[in-house]
Amino acid sequence: MNEVILRARGVRKRFGDTEVLKGIDLDVRSGEVLCVIGPSGSGKSTLLRCFNHLEQIDAGRVWMDGELIGYEQHGPSGRVLRERRPRDIRRQRERIGMVFQRFHLFPHRTAVQNVMEGPVAVKGLSRAQAEKQARKLLDHVGLADRADHYPGQLSGGQQQRVAIARALAMEPALMLFDEPTSALDPELVGEVLGVMRDLAGSGMTMVVVTHEMGFAREVADRVLFMDQGAVVEAGSPELLFTDPRHERTRAFLSTVL
Ligand SMILES: Nc1ncnc2c1ncn2[C@@H]1O[C@H](COP(=O)(O)OP(=O)(O)OP(=O)(O)O)[C@@H](O)[C@H]1O
Ligand SMILES: [Mg+2]
Repeated sequence: MNEVILRARGVRKRFGDTEVLKGIDLDVRSGEVLCVIGPSGSGKSTLLRCFNHLEQIDAGRVWMDGELIGYEQHGPSGRVLRERRPRDIRRQRERIGMVFQRFHLFPHRTAVQNVMEGPVAVKGLSRAQAEKQARKLLDHVGLADRADHYPGQLSGGQQQRVAIARALAMEPALMLFDEPTSALDPELVGEVLGVMRDLAGSGMTMVVVTHEMGFAREVADRVLFMDQGAVVEAGSPELLFTDPRHERTRAFLSTVL
């Protein structure tokens, strides 16, 4: 078994009176593709956001490669957590690529300029180096001939593939996807899932929140079902889709399959 890249223990998060995450434990291993499924409002997006400290957590810990995400330990036996400095948080986030439902591309920059931005601004690559890398990545996602187009000149599926290339340009150790195809017209979903399938095949470690059960069944090493802020069960796609242990999983699957 590969080593654990991302480890979450007892992660709790509340918004006001509502506890949205009720103590999540999770290990993601190097090279693993984990698909997270569950009803709307079950806490899937919030969980992903906790992984790169876009949300502060109320309890628990998240580690990436053994380093605590978002916080430093203080006090006797390290029980007191203090939030890290913004610079440290940015450094930690650089190792984690994130792709959202909406693509958030810069509208006044071409595809290749969007992909170059991070490596130039954050990694200190020269523009020439960054452009070379960006064109290669756009080629990998099937957009070599669209590299000099503006987002407004691209379809939703193409924009999402640019967003994936942009995340990959930072050479992340882990990629998080939050329903990357759910804002797309049905005929554009396949091209984005195809890129994600290739990425999984290349050995990238991925956590994918998705409603695409076909993708989860085919590509995931493990599927995790969340409901009401808790992990109900997790297992191989075969097991989870054909023989779920919990009634709640069964009920959810009957609504989506
Ligand atoms: N910033 C916020 N402030 C208050 N409540 C929030 C906030 N973000 C999320 N919530 C609430 O937390 C709960 C979990 O939300 P979350 O977006 O994580 O669910 P989800 O599983 O991703 O749902 P969906 O499938 O619809 O995307 C919901 O009840 C939501 O209303
Ligand atoms: Mg969500």
